[in-house]
Amino acid sequence: MVHPIVKSFATSNELSVSLAKLVTELSAKSIEAHDRFTVGISGGSLPKLLGADLKHRKDIKWDKWEVFFCDERIVPLDHEDSNYFVCKNELFDHVPIPPEKIHTIKPELASDNDPKNEEEATDPVSVEYEQQLIDVFAKASSIKFPLFDLLLLGVGPDGHTCSLFPGHPLLDENVLWVAYIGDSPKPPPKRVTLTLPVVNHARNVAFVATGSGKQDILYQIFEDPSSNLPSQLVKPVNGKLYWFLDDAASSKLNLAK
Ligand code: 6PG
Repeated sequence: MVHPIVKSFATSNELSVSLAKLVTELSAKSIEAHDRFTVGISGGSLPKLLGADLKHRKDIKWDKWEVFFCDERIVPLDHEDSNYFVCKNELFDHVPIPPEKIHTIKPELASDNDPKNEEEATDPVSVEYEQQLIDVFAKASSIKFPLFDLLLLGVGPDGHTCSLFPGHPLLDENVLWVAYIGDSPKPPPKRVTLTLPVVNHARNVAFVATGSGKQDILYQIFEDPSSNLPSQLVKPVNGKLYWFLDDAASSKLNLAK
């Protein structure tokens, strides 16, 4: 049973400061333990909340970071819908992470919606992205799943996380590290995503959710464990689970302050 560490803040600014503190601590600890910090970042509102304070931190060994995307939309990397593009504006443009350590998808590899590939949940773009993960995580030894130091996740009003949507067959995936979906209910429809077992093997997973629009789904996530929402299926097997909320999002939860 995973007991999440839940924090709620009066303002998104306070949330950003606390989140940056956790990221800074985990970065230092990971670099001390294994000389690098492997982190996955989601899209949506997260990159801005993440970057706000983190981009000013001088006490981080940015050159030891290996950055991946928890999910990515299959659009050009300079398109405003690209999670990379948002992260670039909010963080990468402000800190010295070596460009070769920022592991982007290659949207130009995407095939034209081949139904057979969709059934198999792979596409050339997801296969290539998975290979980048293999190169970083499984160079020296064979492993079943990568062990990220930290995955930063958002949650949608329907309870999705990464590009793992309620009721989608991908929730049963237990072999692939990266999967392709061509039918995302949240636009744009074509995406690649880390799979649930990868998320659940991370050493630390932190959800970030803000605003009153998240009140109802957070109530359901915390109070109705039987709903089997993708965000409820995030239960790190050996890691820690954090929730960073603002008071607008957490107002229906019964949190000990
Ligand atoms: C994406 C995401 C997605 C996001 C949630 C929450 O690329 O669409 O990575 O999983 O994190 O939809 O988004 P908001 O924080 O914008 O509500």
